Amino acid sequence: MFDRIAGVYDVMNSVMTAGLHHRWRERAVDLARVGPGSRALDVATGTGDLAIAMAARGAEVVGSDFSEGVLVRARAKSAAVRWEQGNALALPYADGEFDAATVGFGARNFSDLGRGLGEMARVVRSGGRVVVLEITTPARPPLSTFFSLWFDRVVPLLGRVTGENQAYSYLPSSVKRFPGPAELGAAMARTGLTDVRWILTAGGIIALHSGTVR
Ligand SMILES: C[S@@+](CC[C@H](N)C(=O)[O-])C[C@H]1O[C@@H](n2cnc3c(N)ncnc32)[C@H](O)[C@@H]1O
Repeated sequence: MFDRIAGVYDVMNSVMTAGLHHRWRERAVDLARVGPGSRALDVATGTGDLAIAMAARGAEVVGSDFSEGVLVRARAKSAAVRWEQGNALALPYADGEFDAATVGFGARNFSDLGRGLGEMARVVRSGGRVVVLEITTPARPPLSTFFSLWFDRVVPLLGRVTGENQAYSYLPSSVKRFPGPAELGAAMARTGLTDVRWILTAGGIIALHSGTVR
């Protein structure tokens, strides 16, 4: 599916978030605490915007995804990141190889969330950071009403316009079945991460979770 939608993915991101996704990515990079001299891994990197944002802060970055179609787009966008094909559930990296591992809008697609988070924690050194940027379901009106209107009606309509019905009906359903902020925090703590915290932004639609490797 991601191979197929690679061509419309960036435009859809900007339309669906009114361009705000760049700001959320910058906050994820802040939480990853990377800069010159650090090594970072962005898993399920897609077309690479989060990896590119970390490279812009001076970090040495690997962007990894199992879809070759999205990596073609990522490679065309930046040569400052090393783009590699890989499965987030079985990362081809040694223990503690990175100072931080991030995932943007990808954790909800992991077929085994615990395993994906565990792999991110495994490849980060002790004291390093794991950051998860994800869409979450707001609990209270009016945002919950707006959210369900936007996600259940507008997003699938946009999907039909782009000819990608299936992908943009999958998006709302994948968000709904994804754990809420407290549950995701608990899943991160179960992988052994300490100091697990989360920030909700965009009126409670976006969650930024972070934790530190023991
Ligand atoms: C919604 S896109 C997010 C892309 C990007 N991280 C972003 O912030 O826009 C989800 C990505 O996760 C990738 N993905 C899902 N499961 C994966 C896995 N097990 N291993 C590697 N990539 C995976 C898909 O190929 C897709 O590119």
